[in-house]
Formats: sequence, structure tokens, C-alpha cells
Amino acid sequence: MTLRNLLCLFAVLIAMAVSGAPVMAQATDGAAENPRAATGGAQTLQDILARQNGQTVDNAFRSTATGDPDHAAGIAGQLGTLGGVSDSETWRAIRFGSADTTVSARGPAANVLVQDGGMWWLEFRKGPLMTYGGYTLLATLVALVLFYLLRGRIRIDGERTGTTVLRFKAVERFAHWLMAGSFILLGLTGLSQLFGRFLLIPLIGKEAFAPVAIAGKWVHNNFAWAFMIALIMVFVLWVVENIPNKTDLKWLAVGGGLFSKGVHPPAKKFNAGQKIIFWSVIVLGVSISVSGLSLLFPFQMPMFAATFEKLNALGLPGLVGMAPLPEVLAPHQEMQFAQLWHSIVAIVFIAIILAHIYLGSVGMEGAFDAMGSGEVEAQWAREHHGLWYDEVTGKAEPDKTPAE
Ligand code: HEM
Repeated sequence: MTLRNLLCLFAVLIAMAVSGAPVMAQATDGAAENPRAATGGAQTLQDILARQNGQTVDNAFRSTATGDPDHAAGIAGQLGTLGGVSDSETWRAIRFGSADTTVSARGPAANVLVQDGGMWWLEFRKGPLMTYGGYTLLATLVALVLFYLLRGRIRIDGERTGTTVLRFKAVERFAHWLMAGSFILLGLTGLSQLFGRFLLIPLIGKEAFAPVAIAGKWVHNNFAWAFMIALIMVFVLWVVENIPNKTDLKWLAVGGGLFSKGVHPPAKKFNAGQKIIFWSVIVLGVSISVSGLSLLFPFQMPMFAATFEKLNALGLPGLVGMAPLPEVLAPHQEMQFAQLWHSIVAIVFIAIILAHIYLGSVGMEGAFDAMGSGEVEAQWAREHHGLWYDEVTGKAEPDKTPAE
């Protein structure tokens, strides 16, 4: 080393000693403001901690870091063969769906090799969905048992007359039982898909659960058609009698007499409580059918991107403090949203139907006959559907006022 070089090195060391401290402090400050600067744009400790705490981390820093072919080293250079994109950048592009992937498998979306949103769906499904869904169903059963213990079976208060009136024609009973039968099958096989791993595998083992799960899936996919046909039949047969009117308000004001003995508010063919059941069945039935069809035909019937677009246009997410919903969804994401929606609707639907089944069987004396033989005891009809009874027995002129 020459004397000149030595002097230069000395000068540099002095300059560093004088200015180095503030420079380092600046770097630390910068890192505190923007921790990612300290990692050269990669993942930070804060990202990892946030993710471990279940917070959402904006992945833009890596979803866009997928290399730059324009800066590829020459073919003879050290990085030439990868064309300016490292292995991790390639995998990132595959993960975030921006890779130009070619696959030999045919079929739509076969070139989606990694689907990043799948983890969120999986966590939600085995976390909140199963937990709150399970508790909702258990709470419904507990509430029904408590109701039975406190209120007991709702009896026919007056003396039985020994005569009956026709309440539901054969076609009405057929539609009801087609819907009820298919619903129960769909409910049981659907619940086995959601809770089977958790509840059935510990009970019957994996070997026995596998055929149960396969058969259940087949039943679920195919009996859905029976449910949809019955839903249309029930709608056509009963919609007119389920249009709300003023009598319903009086019925609701006394809780339909469900909570006090000897109280029998007047009602037509369907009382307000039954109208609530009817409209719940129609709205939830249509929603569960459409989301189920979307799951059966994910590439032909996507529905969430279009729904989100409409919700965004109405500004609804903003009203509840949410960011606009995604309007472009891969088929897998469509299925994930459809699966969650389908399950949430199913759980609410099953809870409502459990209450209905209770009242239509053990909960109320004389009710089952309406759907069994179709004939009900005249006294039962007087107490629960007085206006309708008068109408069918000719004791009063049929009400011709338009429904309000
Ligand atoms: C074992 C199960 C079930 C039993 C014992 C049962 C019983 C009954 C009875 C007795 C009625 C007539 C009530 C009356 O005369 O006023 C009825 C009506 C009705 N059922 Fe069911 N049902 C069952 C399952 C279902 C299911 C699964 C659904 C729908 C998914 C359903 C939907 C309806 C509807 C919409 C009505 C008319 C409105 C009402 O009465 O609430 N039922 N059911």
C-alpha cells in the first residue's frame, strides 16, 4: 500500500467517525418508520408478529415482487437460465396468480397451482363457522327443551268435538313431505360434511367414516333437486295464504298464545308465526338452493363476484366501515364464498326448522294430524285457526278483502 493510499484510508476513517453516527441513527429512524426498508422490501418481524396475532397483513410487498425479466442476465451469465426471476420470485408469482402457467391438465382453472385465499377459508371454516354454527344448533335444542319444560305440550283447551275438518289436501301434504324428507336428508348429510371429521371420526373411525362421507356427498348432491322442486310447489300452493294482514299484528301482540294457556288469538289458514316460518323457508330455501347450484357448477354459475359488484355499487360495504368487496374472483374463491354462505344459511335454516318440527309434533296436541291424515279435530281448528274454521265450515262469509 502506498503512502497516498494510506492517507486516503485514514481520511475516510476520520470522515466516518465524524459523520457515521448520524448516518446510522438516520437508518435506524428510517427503519422504525418503515421497517420494510430495513429488510430490503422483504418480510419484517412486525409482519410475522401481526400474522401470528391473527391480523391481516397487506401482502402487496411480495405479491408484486415476482422478478423482472427485462433485467435478466445474459444467457451466458450466472442468472441467465432463470431469465431475471429467482426461484422464490417464481413461486411467489404462482402463489399470487400472476405466473404465466401452462399445464397439461385440461378444464377451467387447472392452471391455478396455488390458491392463496384457501388458507383464510380453511381457518374460517374450522374456526368461527364450526364453533358458532355448532353453538347455534345446541342453543336451539336447549331452548326447545326449556320451552317444553316450562310450557309443556300445548293442549286442545276445549272439549273435543269428535268431528274433523280437512286442513291440507293430498298435493299439499305431498309437497310438504317431499320438502321435509329431502331437507332432513340434506341437513344430516350436510352437517356430516361440516362436523364429520370432528364428531364422527372419533366415534366410528376413519375407515367407517370414509364410505359414510362419500355416500353422504352423493345423497346431498342428488336430493337437492327434490328439495328445490318441493320448494317451488310449496311456494305456489301457499303463497296467497301467507300474505301478511292486520290479523297477524293481533296474533303477534299476544305471542300467538304460545306462552300462556287458554289464549287463542284469531287466525286464518296460517297464523303470523307460520307466515314467518313460510317466508323464512322461501327466502333461505332460495338462497341455499342458489349457493348450492353455484357449488355444483362452480365454473358455470359463479355468483359472488357479481353480487359483490352490486353491493359495492350500492355502497353497502362502506356503510358498515368495510373496504369495497373484491369484484374479480377465481373459481376457487367463488366456491369458498359459496361454501361459507351455504353453511351459514343452512345453520340458521336448521335452527328455525327444529322449532317448527317441535311445534308440528310433540309441542302441540293435534297439530301433526294436519300433515299426517290431513284432517284436524274441529276444536283444534277453532282454537288455532278460528277465522279459517269459520270460513271452511261456512259459519262466516269468506273474507274477500284484499290482503294488506
Ligand atoms: C319431521 C319434520 C316435520 C314435521 C313433523 C312437520 C310438521 C308440520 C305440520 C303439522 C304442519 C301444519 C301446521 C298446521 O296445520 O298449521 C307443517 C307445515 C309446514 N311445514 Fe312442516 N314439518 C316438518 C318438517 C318441515 C321441514 C323440514 C320444512 C321446510 C324445510 C317444513 C316446512 C313447513 C311449512 C313451510 C309449513 C307451512 C307453514 C307452517 O305451518 O309453519 N316442515 N309442518
